[in-house]
Amino acid sequence: MIMNEQPILQTIDVTKIYSSGTATELHVLNEVNIQIQKGEAVCLLGASGAGKSTLLQILGTLDRPTVGDVLFAGQSLLQMNDEQLAQFRNEKMGFVFQFHHLIHEFTAIENVMLPCLLAGESRSESYEKAQYWLNHLGLAERTSHYPNQLSGGELQRAAIARSLIRNPQILLADEPTGNLDSENSKKIQNLFFELHKQLGLTLIVVTHDLEFSKMFSKIYQVKDGHLTSN
Ligand SMILES: Nc1ncnc2c1ncn2[C@@H]1O[C@H](COP(=O)(O)OP(=O)(O)OP(=O)(O)O)[C@@H](O)[C@H]1O
Ligand SMILES: [Mg+2]
Repeated sequence: MIMNEQPILQTIDVTKIYSSGTATELHVLNEVNIQIQKGEAVCLLGASGAGKSTLLQILGTLDRPTVGDVLFAGQSLLQMNDEQLAQFRNEKMGFVFQFHHLIHEFTAIENVMLPCLLAGESRSESYEKAQYWLNHLGLAERTSHYPNQLSGGELQRAAIARSLIRNPQILLADEPTGNLDSENSKKIQNLFFELHKQLGLTLIVVTHDLEFSKMFSKIYQVKDGHLTSN
C-alpha cells in the first residue's frame, strides 16, 4: 500500500453487540468497514437508534467494538490499554458533543485549558493557548464566564475551543448543532468548515440536519447495522 493512501482512520469488520442482561442481544453494528482519509469531511446520518453515536465512539476510541479493529494510520488502536488510549485521544482527537460537556464548576477558559493540563503542559502555556482559541472563536469577552453564564452557541464554541487546543488531526462531533436554534446552528456549521479548511482537520460528524450534511464531501447512512455511502 502506498503510504499517502493509508486512511487516517478505519474500522475493520467492526461489530458491536449490546447484551443488557436479557436474552436478546442487540446487534447495533455488523462488520462495519469505513475508511476515512486525512483531510476528509465525513458525515454520519441515520435514524435515531441506528448506531451513529456508537460508531462515532468506536472511531474515537471512547468505546471498544465487540469484534473488529480500529486503525489509526494503519496501526491498531485496540491493542493499547486504556491509559495509552487516553493519551492517544488527547493528542490526536478532538471531541464535540450535543450538550457540550463543559464542567460547570470551571470557567470557560479553565474548561478549554483542561486537555493541556492533563497532558502535563504548564499552567501559563495552557492559559495562553486557551486564550488564543477563545479569541479565535469569538469568545474573548467570555473567558471568565461559567457555563451557566454562556448562551447555547457560546457553550458550543467553548467546547470546540477545548476540542482544538491540542491541535488534533481528527475532530469528531456528535450532533454538535442538535441543541441550537437555526441561527447559532448555522454559525457553528460554518465554523466547523472554516476550521476544516484553515487547519486541514479531518471531520467526522453525526447530524440529523440534512442541510448541514450537504456541506460534507462524504455522507454515510447508518442503517440495520450497516453503512452505505452516497
Ligand atoms: N450501553 C448500551 N447498552 C445497551 N444498548 C445500548 C447501549 N448504548 C446504546 N444502546 C442501543 O444501541 C442502539 C444504537 O444507539 P446509538 O446511541 O448509537 O444510536 P444513534 O444512532 O446515535 O441514535 P440517536 O440519533 O437517537 O442519537 C440504540 O438502540 C440504543 O438503545
Ligand atoms: Mg446518537
